[in-house]
Amino acid sequence: MEQVKKDGTIPLILDSGNLFFSQNPIPADIKPQMALKADVIAEAYKKIGIDALNIGELDLALGINYLLGKKKGIDLPFVSSNIIYADNEKTVFPPFIIREIKGLKIAIFGLIPVVSSAGTGDAKDIRILPPAETARKMVERLRKKADIVILLSNLGQGEDEKLAREIPGIDIIVGGRNRALLQTPVRVGDTLILQAQAQGKQIGRLDFNLTDRTFVNTITPMDDKVSKNEEIEGMLKRYKDALVALHSVKGKPAPQAVSPGAYIGEAACARCHQRQRDFWKGSRHARAYETLVKRNSHTDLECVGCHTTGFNLQGGFRLGMETPDIRNVQCEACHGPGREHKGRGDIRRVMEISVCRGCHDTAKDPGFNIASSINKVRCPK
Ligand code: HEC
Ligand code: HEC
Ligand code: HEC
Ligand code: HEC
Repeated sequence: MEQVKKDGTIPLILDSGNLFFSQNPIPADIKPQMALKADVIAEAYKKIGIDALNIGELDLALGINYLLGKKKGIDLPFVSSNIIYADNEKTVFPPFIIREIKGLKIAIFGLIPVVSSAGTGDAKDIRILPPAETARKMVERLRKKADIVILLSNLGQGEDEKLAREIPGIDIIVGGRNRALLQTPVRVGDTLILQAQAQGKQIGRLDFNLTDRTFVNTITPMDDKVSKNEEIEGMLKRYKDALVALHSVKGKPAPQAVSPGAYIGEAACARCHQRQRDFWKGSRHARAYETLVKRNSHTDLECVGCHTTGFNLQGGFRLGMETPDIRNVQCEACHGPGREHKGRGDIRRVMEISVCRGCHDTAKDPGFNIASSINKVRCPK
């Protein structure tokens, strides 16, 4: 954004929703971490200068009052046209926002699908109006007020296309929900539908010429080539430090001893399988926890599951407990828990790809190929 603004361009910065949380409902044990993370995201968006922010289904995970608190706390420009209070039927957030840039009036409204109330926190207090009907009313109203009408949609690409077909008059739909990466916007009638994946991995930029409706769409991956902003880096550092404090063993009552469980740790295997142990020691699996420590992410519940063994399972790795002998991706991450194992035939030997896919999933390791990688981890005879 700093680079964009350098040449005098005034960008309109938008988000289609599902910003704060990655699941709904959020399991109780990771709620404190997710709340901390949402705080950092909110603070960062405020700093970036977000112009409008739609509410998505996942954003409701801690309830509507939580979001209202955020809005009040740091004044984020939430918009939602179809979330209403159940009792007085008023919209909970502004149903639209009008921004004026260099004399041009831009109207932005937001839609969420009708989601079941299950798991949406204090959902009993709110109701969600049918999106298409709401869109029709909004377009009719906003076309009279603005030069450009933009919809921030949490409906998903299929629904966005349907809306664009059935309700003319929306210039641009910034979509989300189904995490598509649209290098080129989808054109339905006069409407352009944009989407730029998820988790801030890509930034989509649309330069739109209102006169002849031509446009240039650019998708920029947020990788190491993008220069870092000191203030945002500071926020991230404070977040990681807060996680270390949150999940720290220190200062907490002595952890209950981990019951002698199904996982026993690699040191125990080494007693009978020294050769395989030596081989494993030389692999990256044996340093997977160190990788997190180096980044101060070793207490991040969104990381440890794949960089340790038997996370939260009996005898496996747990946060906030002394379980040093079960860090890293150990023998039992591949061969399965070994407590009952005495000899041949009672422990997994042949690896199905599903074993690896538990961690080498399509998000973290899209190029994973079992045929080529299995030879790198196959223990010697
Ligand atoms: C007390 C000794 C002992 C310990 C401890 C031990 N194993 Fe074994 N393991 C054996 C014996 C014996 C065999 C059979 C070897 C053979 O017949 O060549 C075996 C076989 C295996 C096999 C091959 C299984 C098969 O069906 O061919 C795997 C895999 C294995 N062990 C993994 C582990 C893992 C992982 C651990 C630690 C959780 C472990 N072992 C701990 C003794 C042990
Ligand atoms: C418990 C999670 C987990 C499981 C199960 C797992 N891995 Fe990994 N694997 C990792 C992690 C994490 C790394 C990166 C470690 C690091 O460098 O910090 C990794 C690294 C690797 C690497 C080295 C990196 C590379 O791309 O060259 C290979 C090869 C690999 N894994 C293959 C496999 C195969 C094959 C299986 C299944 C038999 C498997 N892994 C099962 C988590 C896992
Ligand atoms: C779903 C499982 C999974 C989760 C969750 C996960 N990782 Fe990994 N990670 C992997 C696998 C598999 C690899 C190895 C493949 C690769 O390098 O892409 C890896 C590799 C890495 C590497 C590269 C290691 C190297 O030296 O090249 C880093 C750094 C890393 N992970 C950090 C993290 C952090 C930080 C988090 C939490 C924000 C995290 N991981 C969460 C599975 C996971
Ligand atoms: C990334 C997954 C992975 C990890 C981690 C791993 N292994 Fe293996 N191991 C394999 C694979 C794959 C084979 C080969 C299975 C086959 O025969 O097809 C194997 C084979 C074995 C065998 C049988 C060897 C033989 O042919 O007689 C033993 C024993 C064994 N592993 C023990 C261990 C021990 C002990 C550790 C930890 C120190 C360990 N493994 C860590 C994947 C793994």
